[in-house]
Amino acid sequence: MQFTVAIDGPAAAGKGTVSKAVATHFGFAYLDTGLLYRAVGARVLDGADAIEAAQSLNAKEIDGSQLRTAEVAEAASKAAAMPEVRAALVEFQRGFAKRQGGAVLDGRDIGTVICPDASVKLFVTASAEVRAKRRFLELSEKESSVDFEQVLADVKARDERDASRDAAPLVAADDAVVIDTSELTIKEAVSAAVSAIEAKLVS
Ligand code: DC
Repeated sequence: MQFTVAIDGPAAAGKGTVSKAVATHFGFAYLDTGLLYRAVGARVLDGADAIEAAQSLNAKEIDGSQLRTAEVAEAASKAAAMPEVRAALVEFQRGFAKRQGGAVLDGRDIGTVICPDASVKLFVTASAEVRAKRRFLELSEKESSVDFEQVLADVKARDERDASRDAAPLVAADDAVVIDTSELTIKEAVSAAVSAIEAKLVS
């Protein structure tokens, strides 16, 4: 069975959590496409050219544990604004989406560019303040001197860059189901996503 779930949305909206949970629930394979851009960003920080890094990226480099730093996120966001970088990553993502047994891909342009014919499209979002608060709590567990206003400014700056770039800007597909997690618990957000997917699975 081929069944593709496209999940897009801004940083810290709960996209990753929802994506992982629905992939587990339905037994689908899961790809966090942000890690592809982060792997490119990490290579750029090591001195590589962004386009060459994207063109020669291999699956072994996509190790989430190394790539979840603010510095890498910043470099990833810059690399992601380059059309040549995005183009180099399209084929890998489309191949993943066609896996037998179902696939969940999360990112910024899955429903609009990578998989415009996805079986289900979700747009998981939340207010900038709520997302900054989540990020702040997450960072505070690792460091003691985190400044909320700075985290909020960073969230807004990254949103602005991701939404205003010419190449595949962050926008909800016309046929996406929007899930605003600002006032939802994780359980409620996951259950909204599962219901939207089930509706398409049976139809
Ligand atoms: O979701 P994330 O924070 O790991 O993404 C890192 C950066 O990559 C972010 O600035 C947006 C960009 N990105 C993108 O442009 N397209 C995707 N499909 C996934 C991520």
